[in-house]
Order: sequence, then structure tokens, then C-alpha cells
Amino acid sequence: MKRLIGLFLSWATMAALNLPGVVHAAPAIVIKFSHVVDENTPKGLAALEFKRLVEERTRGKVRVEVYPNSSLYKDKEELEALQLGAVQMLAPSLAKFGYLGMRDFEVFDLPYIFPNRRVLKAVTEGPIGRELLNQLEDRGILGLAYWDNGFKVMSANTPLLHPEDLKGKRMRIQPSRVLEAQMESLGATPIPLAFSDVYTALETGLADGTENPPSNLYSKNMHKVQKYVTVTNHGYLGYAVIVNRKFWTSLPADLRATLERCMVDATKRNNEESVRLNAEALEKVKAAGTSVVTQLTPAQREEWRKALEPVQRKMEGRINKTLIERIRKTAANEQYSYAR
Ligand code: LMR
Repeated sequence: MKRLIGLFLSWATMAALNLPGVVHAAPAIVIKFSHVVDENTPKGLAALEFKRLVEERTRGKVRVEVYPNSSLYKDKEELEALQLGAVQMLAPSLAKFGYLGMRDFEVFDLPYIFPNRRVLKAVTEGPIGRELLNQLEDRGILGLAYWDNGFKVMSANTPLLHPEDLKGKRMRIQPSRVLEAQMESLGATPIPLAFSDVYTALETGLADGTENPPSNLYSKNMHKVQKYVTVTNHGYLGYAVIVNRKFWTSLPADLRATLERCMVDATKRNNEESVRLNAEALEKVKAAGTSVVTQLTPAQREEWRKALEPVQRKMEGRINKTLIERIRKTAANEQYSYAR
């Protein structure tokens, strides 16, 4: 027994000192995955699911380090970090690809372009979605998947029932020209800010209001500093999961194939759960009792749609017109319905 203990101790010492004679397992490949939202959101949970699947299926050969809540980088910085290889994976909202000079992604920001989720899915899971992701290759980036969040609500400290209610308001937006045009068309002043700065902007009055799906609103406590929330569903917020191309293509082919299957499964889970997570977040906002939550009647929604739809034409000079028309064609004859 003494001999055995002695043997173990000398092995442990050699290992600790990193001495020759000790076989070390190959160091794990590390994927740093940076994002800006809370963990308990559709994107936050999908990132954790991807990590879980990868570490389990590669038996630890690949480690995924997820950095939520802008803990590593803010919106713009994370895109720079990805291109420089300081992080390997991100899932920026589609509105943020303007930072890379990729205007066509702003098509997702056009108000009322998607009458329902069926149309949205036909776009993200069909040829249009793939063609957009392919455009990223010129930037040293590969697009792996689209992750869903949801349709946006509007919030402020005064009621926002009609489009005119936004007149004169300072509204925080994501940095997108389409969202700028959207707020301007309502007579509001758009304030583009990084996501990590939104709560403080609302709390201090730098911005009067904002727009986001309920999951982002609730998880960042925006409802505590916004007295009115209106479920307008006027626009969409989703993500593209992207990787540094050099990193991804340098992975051994079998590992890459495993990671790609993990991405397919994490994406499926995200898309199945995003509607539920947003519905739950909206219920939690109501239960918190700090904001009045209003659902629009069909007649009120028509008012918002009429006020905002012209932004689609206005943006034809910025976003590829054929792309907008292809989406409109997919949406033709579809009913407005955001419930699932
Ligand atoms: C925002 O900046 O409002 C959102 O895009 C954040 C996110 O990634 O969902």
C-alpha cells in the first residue's frame, strides 16, 4: 500500500511539474462564444445548448466558453474581435451586420415585412437566408445558422397606442439605417446605442423608449424603467450565428462535422423555444406590475402597419430591391399572425 501511495505521489508531482514521462491529453480546442444578452433568453439558452452538445459529443476535445451579457465585448467590438480571431463564434442580431457594411441583412428590420413566422422561416431556412449568409465569406466569416428571438414590442413612459404617440420621443434603436428610418417616419428621434447601454439610457432619460422582443426587455429589467409596453409586433429580431472562417476551416473535418450537427440541433431547440420564452417573458412583465402591457386590436395594428409600411419602399435604395420583392412575394396572401 505504502509503495502504491508513493508511486501515486511521484506521478502527481511529475504531472504537476509538467515533467517528461507524463502523457498529457491533447489540449482542448476552445471556441469563445461572445454575446450581449442575458443567459435566460432564446439566444442565451441556445448558446448554452450548443456548448453542452459540443462538449458531450466531442468528449471534451472541443470546449465552448460562452460569454453572455457583453462580458467580453459589446456589439461592435465583438464583430471586430471575430474578424481578428480573438473570439471564434458570435450570434449578432441581424440589424448589426451593417457594422460589416452588409446592408442586405437590414431587410430583416423592415417593419411588417414578415406577416407571420411561416414567412420568416421560409426566408431564413430557404435560399434567401443561405444567399445572405454566403455574402459573409468576403469578410472572413462563415454563417452557420439563423437563431430566432421574436417580434418586437414598443415601450416608453407614456402610452404608445397609436403611431402618433411616438412623436417627439427619443427612441433607442439598434444601429440600423432601417430602424432609424422607421423611428423617423413616426416623428421620433432614433438613438442608436449598444445593447449594454440601453437600461442606463432608459433609467437616466437619455432615451424615452425602445423596442425589443419581451425576452430582452424583461431579462434586462427595462420594464422597471418603462411604464408602458405595447405589443406592436411591428418588426423582427433574430440572429445569424457566425464563425471566423479561418478558424472553422482549420478544424479537423470530423470534428467540424460534429460541431455542425450540434449547431443544427441547438438551432432546432432555439426555434422551438423562442416563442414560449417570449410569451413567458411578457407574462413576467405583466406580473411585475411596473408597466401597463397593451395588446393592439386588429384595427390598431392596421394603423401601425399603414404608418410603417412605407419604410419598405424608402429603403429600396439601400437594400437590394429584388431581395425585398422576393420576400414580399413569399408573404403575398399571408395573414398577419404572430402567435406562433
Ligand atoms: C439589441 O441590441 O437590442 C438586441 O439586438 C440585442 C440582442 O442581441 O438581442
